[in-house]
Amino acid sequence: MRILVVGKGGREHALVRALAESPGNPELFSFPGSDAIHEIAKPVEADGLESLVAWMKANAIDLCVAGEESYLVKGEGLANLCASNGIPCWGPPKQSAMLEASKEFAKDFLVRNQIPTARATATDSLEEAFAAIAGEYPTVLKFDGLAAGKGVAVCPDEASARAFLDEVFTQRRFGPGRVLVEQCLTGPEVSVFAAIVDDSYQIFTPARDYKRAGDGDLGPNTGGMGAVASRNLVPRPVLERIEREIVLPTVEGLRRDGLPYRGFLYFGLMLTPSGPQVIEYNCRFGDPECQAVMPLVKGDLASYCLAGAKGELRPDFISFDDGWSVCVILASAGYPESSRSGDVITGLGNTGDFRVYHAGTRRNDDGDWETHGGRVLAVVSGGATRQEAVSKAHAAADLIHFDGLQRRRDVGILNFD
Ligand code: AMP
Ligand code: GLY
Repeated sequence: MRILVVGKGGREHALVRALAESPGNPELFSFPGSDAIHEIAKPVEADGLESLVAWMKANAIDLCVAGEESYLVKGEGLANLCASNGIPCWGPPKQSAMLEASKEFAKDFLVRNQIPTARATATDSLEEAFAAIAGEYPTVLKFDGLAAGKGVAVCPDEASARAFLDEVFTQRRFGPGRVLVEQCLTGPEVSVFAAIVDDSYQIFTPARDYKRAGDGDLGPNTGGMGAVASRNLVPRPVLERIEREIVLPTVEGLRRDGLPYRGFLYFGLMLTPSGPQVIEYNCRFGDPECQAVMPLVKGDLASYCLAGAKGELRPDFISFDDGWSVCVILASAGYPESSRSGDVITGLGNTGDFRVYHAGTRRNDDGDWETHGGRVLAVVSGGATRQEAVSKAHAAADLIHFDGLQRRRDVGILNFD
């Protein structure tokens, strides 16, 4: 089997490793990939989606796996182009990926399908937004488009709301677009992933990410400073409720709306006092949740994704470990406001009962690994208990060094004790 994985981050490194470990030794390719990904998935030279898909066709690629969301909605859409060229793709077509690319589209879908979610109003200007807020703080403001994780602001007061609305409507920081004014929900967050194949689905191991830069959930929002995953993260009755009230109606809604879906769908949920509610959909696996979840997946992920992309969900191809998995992100100096490249990384030669996925690294002229981006590495370890996974993952993270390294010490601990 010849598989091409699209994306370049820690999530894609984890996906590529999991696919590489599938029985049957699939031959792997990546676009654009990274130096670390290229060690297991050969790089593909392409300039743009069309040439990428033409390359896939010319090189008899059996399966395209979409890691990163942006390609799903670029141009004609990665999955759409694959479909018109007869290449099975694990990842949804553009019209369905709007669930992630447009928060207004997602909100309309949720409301239409009576799936629990925060009340929201779409607004076109600062004045309209303030009218929708109606003096009720805290409020949540969401730019209606892909904004690399920077498009959401939870605003405790008018001043912070004004600052965000100024960025969107006056400075047009994210380009043109509306703002959703949303009711602020409270409760623990959980990321639930389902593999969806038309009208069937399978729920993967739930996870939780740590979004803030600093311990105690302090500091600015980031792409994610760590994650914890386990079947036991969410009590069984709550997971059953999530399935009944959220996952199933989502799958039915996609069918009803004529939105084809074959791929991972990420449900960003808040477990509010009145029940689980959807905060967002992402049309892909989470980053860094993927790095925590993949080591818990056993079996043949490659055949699973290929069968799914061809329209057959095969839960019998994989199974999930019962234990816990903890992922600690090592970030470079300045992250998340900026990042620093070129700091040499030491300690990567250590081996043990842990995995290291590369997110923002590259090989320098001496052949050493150095930082190359904000989130640099993901160190992941598992255990029968959360405590065991926590201590192993943090001990493994202690083995790695580079100048300016930042990490959280409470990943897997905060929000549990
Ligand atoms: P998103 O980019 O949609 O994942 O939102 C980023 C973060 O903002 C979420 O993980 C939540 O912590 C927070 N958030 C989003 N929507 C709400 C909401 N309606 N109420 C409270 N917090 C929210
Ligand atoms: N961990 C959040 C995300 O992948 O969007």
